This record gives sequence, C-alpha cells and structure tokens, in this order.
Amino acid sequence: MRNIAPPKTYRIESFGCQMNVYDGERMAEMLAEHGISAAAEGEDADLVVLNTCHIREKAAEKIYSRIGRLTKKKAQPPLIAVAGCVAQAEGEEIMTRAPAVSMVVGPQAYHRLPAMLERAVAGQRSTDTDMPADAKFAALPQRRKSAPSAFLTVQEGCDKFCTYCVVPYTRGAEISRPFKELVAEAERLVEAGAREITLLGQNVNAWRGEDLAGRAVGLAGLIRALAAMPDLARIRYTTSHPADMDTAAGAALIAAHGEVDKLMPYLHLPVQSGSDRILKAMNRSHTAGSYLKLLERFRAARPDLALSGDFIVGFPGETDAEFEETLELVDAVGYAQAFSFKYSPRPGTPAATMDDQIAAQVMDERLQRLQAHLNRDQLAFNQASVGKTCAVLVERKGKLPGQWLGKSPWLQSVHFTGEAAIGDLVTTRLVEAMGSSLGGELVRP
Ligand code: 5AD
Ligand code: SF4
Repeated sequence: MRNIAPPKTYRIESFGCQMNVYDGERMAEMLAEHGISAAAEGEDADLVVLNTCHIREKAAEKIYSRIGRLTKKKAQPPLIAVAGCVAQAEGEEIMTRAPAVSMVVGPQAYHRLPAMLERAVAGQRSTDTDMPADAKFAALPQRRKSAPSAFLTVQEGCDKFCTYCVVPYTRGAEISRPFKELVAEAERLVEAGAREITLLGQNVNAWRGEDLAGRAVGLAGLIRALAAMPDLARIRYTTSHPADMDTAAGAALIAAHGEVDKLMPYLHLPVQSGSDRILKAMNRSHTAGSYLKLLERFRAARPDLALSGDFIVGFPGETDAEFEETLELVDAVGYAQAFSFKYSPRPGTPAATMDDQIAAQVMDERLQRLQAHLNRDQLAFNQASVGKTCAVLVERKGKLPGQWLGKSPWLQSVHFTGEAAIGDLVTTRLVEAMGSSLGGELVRP
C-alpha cells in the first residue's frame, strides 16, 4: 500500500439542500482544526470532499462526472471523499465504481472524517455509513466564523416516509438537537458575525425539546429564546411539514409569526400536489383542503407572509385532471417563491415500483406549465412589493461598482447601490421588480 502526503488544503463541494451547506461548513471547521486550510479559489486542493445529494437522479449522477474531472490527466490527483446522501445510499457502489475515491462517509458519521483521512493517507480506503445514536454535533468543533446569514441544523431525519423520497433512508429517523446546545451554537454564530439564523431540519417544525427550566417546548419556544439575543436580528426556519403544523406546537408556531418581530414573514411549506388522490399515494397525510386551511391560519397571524412550496409533477399515475388540480392550488395560494421538480424514481422507495410511471415528455410539459404559473406569481408578488420600505440584510457585493446584494424580510434578493457593508441591515425602498429579484434605493435615516 502506498503512503500519500497528508493533505494541506481542502475544497468542499456541497450539492443539494441547505442542510448539506451546513454540514459542509461543519466539515470545513473540522478540517481547519486538523491544520488543513481551504484551497484558494481556482487552485487545486489536496483533498476534495464531495458533499452529495441523492434526492433526484440527476443530483446523484453528477458525482461520477465530477470525480472523473477531478482525476483526469492529473499526475497527482487529490484525495477524494464522498460525503452526504449519495454516500449513505450508494457507498458500496461508489467504492467499486470509483477507485479514485478513498473515503465514503454518510451524513451522520462525518465527525469521523479526520480518522478516515489518516487511514487514507496510509493508503487505506474506508467507508463509514453508520448512523450512530451518539451525538455527531457534540464531536464537532466550536463555530468560529459566520456569514451575516447563517444556517443552524436543529432537527435532522424524517419519519414521514413520503413514497417518493429517499430522505428517511439517507438521513435516518427524526432527531431533535437539545435546546441548550442550540442556544449555545446560536450564541457562537452571533459572536462570529451572524445577524440572521435560519433553523434547518428536514421536518424542522417537528423539533421538540426542553427549555432551561425543563419545560417541553416546540420550535416556537426555541425561536422565542433566540429572539431574546440582542445582536440577532432575524430568524427563519425551513423546511416544514404540514402534518407537524396541525398540532399544539404548530399552533404555537403560527402564533409566533404574529408576535415575534424577529421571525421573518416567510414560510416554506411544501405541498407537492394539489390532488388528494396523489397526495394519498404520496403518503403525505394532508389534503389540498387541509393545506389551504393551514395557510389561512398563518395568513391570519401574519397577513404579509410570503409563501413558498415544493411541487412534484408526474408522480406515478398522475392524470391530466390531477395535474390540473395542482395548478388550481397554485392559483389559489399565490406563492412568492417555489421549487418544482419532475418526479424522479429513487431506488428503494415505494413509488419507484408503482405502475403507470409517467412518460418524460408528459412530465416536461407539466413542469413547464406549472413553472409558468409559479413564475407569474413570483413576479406578481415582487411587483406588489414595489413601493414598500423595508430592512435589507446585506450579504455580498453586487456585480456593478458600489452595488450590494441582500435579502428583504420576504427573502427576496434586493440589489441597491450606495454606502453599506456586508452584515448591515439597511433601510431600503423597493423601486423595481424583476422575476426573481428587486431593485432598491437606500433610505437615509
Ligand atoms: N422526485 C422529484 N422530486 C423529489 N423531491 C423529493 N423526492 C423527489 C423525487 N423522488 C422534492 C420534493 C421535496 C424536495 C426537497 O424535493 O418536492 O420537497
Ligand atoms: Fe422526504 Fe416527505 Fe420526509 Fe420531506 S417529509 S424529507 S419529502 S419523506
């Protein structure tokens, strides 16, 4: 076996959801702790971590082409680790199909990456797709750096088993991180520069914990505790499940939207389809009607709430009429933003072997029609925002000189020119609406 020089630089490439972005940051912190630094932009890294997504077929296939490009015609190819949900689902296959990969590590085991790296340097390939009950989070180093807008994973895993979805298999059962640990991590993030924290979970509103007084609390309790931190300006959370809103904890969350100023007026609540028959086949445990009722309750608590959703077109057996029901639901809601996908059969999920898989061309047409409705509504939402004055959290420089990019309370991208700095909350008048962003003007206090 060949010894390899210990890596000095790393690059982490995260695909897929925001939780992967969070995991990528945590892996970066861990590698830094072991004396490995981030490779400079445009330069080859000694270690590349591909933090993968398995939610749809395309996302998974990307990995093999990326590995090919990383190793092609390289006298000294990097050490490659495959992390994330593809690693969890297809670890063995990756090991046989991609000899250039020396580490495969699942989403619940990445705190063990440094030990795997030691073995890799000694020429040994290894796989760790355990889902240890012990706390991964406790094994990770303290947070030291933060962008103005930070992610904080509070809940992981899924017990819902929607019939199309791999997440319950790749991320495991629902777990909630302890209240105390989360408050401590949020404090570190704020000290490190975060002004906004987005609480993350596959079913974030399923989060349960005990506050410092030992009282049982749901997500609203956690949000209220974070809102008490003076230097934290904004709180968001994603992704929610309708079933976990129809509970006492859900009612408390709805109420928090009307009462906690720092909780931003934005809700990402996937519905997937507007057809009750399809929702049942998806095992979604809500109907189009119960979903709409929930939204009414949210809107009653916070009338200016911006709504976002996820949609799947072409679930097995979906008829034209059932697809039309999705369009009707979309028209009834008027989403500010949305994510829509063609159904992708995932290995091991019940839907993958259902009869009546839908032809690719039909899915293409449906997706186009759905997106036309969603784009229309997003533009309408943005146009209706023109004339409003709101706070914008400045996240980065824009392309033009003196231009800045930030987010409105409704999660719209806003660009403006003028005096500002990253991390500022500036008062801006929204003056121009584009499809997916807005132009603003600084308002002098
Ligand atoms: N095919 C297409 N889209 C899917 N999603 C999850 N699984 C699949 C699949 N097999 C979508 C859902 C989910 C989002 C994260 O990805 O809309 O809410
Ligand atoms: Fe997947 Fe459904 Fe769980 Fe969301 S709720 S992660 S779509 S199984």
